[in-house]
Amino acid sequence: MTAVRIAPSILSADFAKLGEEVRAIDAAGADWIHIDVMDGHFVPNITIGPAVIKALRPHSAKPFDVHLMIEPVDPMLEAFAEAGADCLSVHPESGPHLHRTLQTIKALGKRAGVVLNPATPVDVVDHVMDLVDLILVMSVNPGFGGQKFIESQLAKIAVLRARIDTSGRQIDLEVDGGVDQNNAARVIAAGADALVAGTAAFKGGPSAYADNIRALRAG
Ligand code: DX5
Ligand code: ZN
Repeated sequence: MTAVRIAPSILSADFAKLGEEVRAIDAAGADWIHIDVMDGHFVPNITIGPAVIKALRPHSAKPFDVHLMIEPVDPMLEAFAEAGADCLSVHPESGPHLHRTLQTIKALGKRAGVVLNPATPVDVVDHVMDLVDLILVMSVNPGFGGQKFIESQLAKIAVLRARIDTSGRQIDLEVDGGVDQNNAARVIAAGADALVAGTAAFKGGPSAYADNIRALRAG
């Protein structure tokens, strides 16, 4: 199994100095930069759009792991691809045709991810495995950082681990929401190979980032 990747969510960074924050978290050992895009409609919060991603792009060579919480998602895919996203992850509920959405992301030359809300069944990915590079399990309801990890999602992670292994495909299994230094070990043991962390990565300011990431990776 791949070593666990840590994807700090810049939702918990200081928005007044985002470029600096991205450089600091990159230097501290982040594997991917997780960018939460919210539209105030699909989720009850508004965050970052393509212009901000484009502005951040020169600040890190690490993959931009872009989590799209916008509806409808299809009309915006090209803009996020052009802005510099490496992976575009979508919720099945954010458009009428998940298969078509994934085809579009692949046609744009980007990695494609499917995001499962806590109540979304795993079966939604069964017939799109050939188009998927990443499955993201939400361990909180999307919309805000700093929420409590939902324990019932550990079983879902284990089911998806088995399905990915059985498929024989190279699909990353990422977990997002309430992941911290206390539960990371259990999340990894359940089968995750990538962890998103907002609060747990950015707590304590730049001088703490490297230790925060090291502790998450150690599980
Ligand atoms: C929630 C976002 C998460 C969030 C994680 O909708 O998708 O990426 O920022 O933040 P923490 O780690 O604080 O739960
Ligand atoms: Zn996210």
